[in-house]
Amino acid sequence: MKDKIIVALDFDKAGEAKQLVDDLQEADFFKVGLQAFLGFGDELIAYLKHKNKKLFLDLKFKDIPNTLYGAVKSSLKYDPYFLTIHLSGGAEMIKKAVEAAEEKPGLAILGVTVLTSLSDGDLKETGIDLSTGDAVIRLCELGVKNGLNSFVCSPREIEPIRKRFGQDVVLVTPGIRPAWAAKGDQKRVFTPGMAIAAGSNYLVIGRPINCSDNPAAAFAKILAEIS
Ligand code: C5P
Repeated sequence: MKDKIIVALDFDKAGEAKQLVDDLQEADFFKVGLQAFLGFGDELIAYLKHKNKKLFLDLKFKDIPNTLYGAVKSSLKYDPYFLTIHLSGGAEMIKKAVEAAEEKPGLAILGVTVLTSLSDGDLKETGIDLSTGDAVIRLCELGVKNGLNSFVCSPREIEPIRKRFGQDVVLVTPGIRPAWAAKGDQKRVFTPGMAIAAGSNYLVIGRPINCSDNPAAAFAKILAEIS
């Protein structure tokens, strides 16, 4: 079960991120996002490799197809297990990402659907008149049509996605908040237990662990909840 927990290393100092990796002896899978990558990405990723940890490189690419192809190619040197692109970049961009990833058979490109911090009202403000739920299904459809089968979504969308696309799609869910943790800016949240029960393959967890006074205890508590 511990492989299902991906801990987000959202820090502004390399030392803090490495300390969390050391503190979480039990955790095997870590997410490096924009904050850490731009600050000290090479150093942190080398540290994760040295510690034999799996890397989720969460840079959420979205660009014209040709540029995106180059970005995915350049990312391969970090040997990530997961890499993210925004599905809203469109069909051609998705195809290029899939093509660029072909030389690394173990790598899965995850399509980001709708950020878990967005509500229906927030989407409307961006000119999208669909509910977050409908937008997620529409975007997964685009992903599946163009060669993806792994998606980032809110735990709330697991059921409709599985209903529409079956059990084989891999669903990675942020927006996880144990009952004892603060919600922060996440709006569409589930507890770890609820997300696993709903069929999430991987839980991405940041602040409930990385802002905790005792991250190892927070990790253990979450692991106990989902086991
Ligand atoms: O601190 P928290 O648990 O909210 O962190 C969630 C992590 O998942 C963050 O690193 C954030 O970038 C990421 N994420 C997200 N929503 C998505 C994709 C990724 O919150 N749709």
